[in-house]
Amino acid sequence: MGKKNEVDNSIYDNYGDQWYTAVDDPIALLRAESKVKVPWILSRIEETSVILDVGCGAGFLTNELALAGHQVTGVDLSESSLKVAAHHDQTKTVNYKVANAYELPFSDASFDVLCAMDFLEHVEDPSRAIKEFARVLKPGGKFFYHTFNRNLVAWLVIIKLVEWLIPKTPKHMHVLRLFIKPKELKLYCELANLKNQEMIGIRPVFSSIPLTQIFSGKVPPEMRFKLTSSLMTSFMGVALK
Ligand SMILES: C[S@@+](CC[C@H](N)C(=O)[O-])C[C@H]1O[C@@H](n2cnc3c(N)ncnc32)[C@H](O)[C@@H]1O
Repeated sequence: MGKKNEVDNSIYDNYGDQWYTAVDDPIALLRAESKVKVPWILSRIEETSVILDVGCGAGFLTNELALAGHQVTGVDLSESSLKVAAHHDQTKTVNYKVANAYELPFSDASFDVLCAMDFLEHVEDPSRAIKEFARVLKPGGKFFYHTFNRNLVAWLVIIKLVEWLIPKTPKHMHVLRLFIKPKELKLYCELANLKNQEMIGIRPVFSSIPLTQIFSGKVPPEMRFKLTSSLMTSFMGVALK
């Protein structure tokens, strides 16, 4: 269980197929956001690549990368989430493996691309994780990330508003102190000899949320996200080794 001000990563063990079906839980927001993240990443991977997805959860990105023809490995600490991911892998080609992001069970320079989506704000030492990511990336390899900015607006929107509108939000799903400012992320990349190339924000399309459903406690199926130049709350990016 997460103590006050500690993120609770054990919640992912209990989702089972709810990763793909829950509508009264913020996991539905993660599913909706993935629809924007996946094409952005795919459009930046020019050739068929060997890809590692770290903290892959139930494979929202991992399985799409495999469907696009890439050779994909997904690692996570949550074994039950990996089982769900494998079940939803239409290609049956993804190598799902239990592993800790701090100590990846791969040789140096094994991957063309490494992704860590909605992951860095779930660990105490993101800089250490990024150094480990850089170790397993080939020279010229790409590191894709997504995380949340640390400021009052992000606290209000990503933590408080979500808890308020979705009462079933698990406690300590996110804690503000682990959110990462864009300039900190750039620094962690530099410390790992990765050069940041692009950063872009993601935000909800407000008109996609039916007014009648705002207080339903559920994420409406129509809800969509879009890219934005503002890095104020949710943002992703790519760095080069
Ligand atoms: C918010 S989920 C993101 C899942 C997926 N990347 C996505 O965007 O759908 C965070 C994931 O990180 C995993 N995780 C947390 N700490 C980890 C660690 N040290 N090593 C590997 N996975 C970890 C959790 O089990 C969880 O599945």
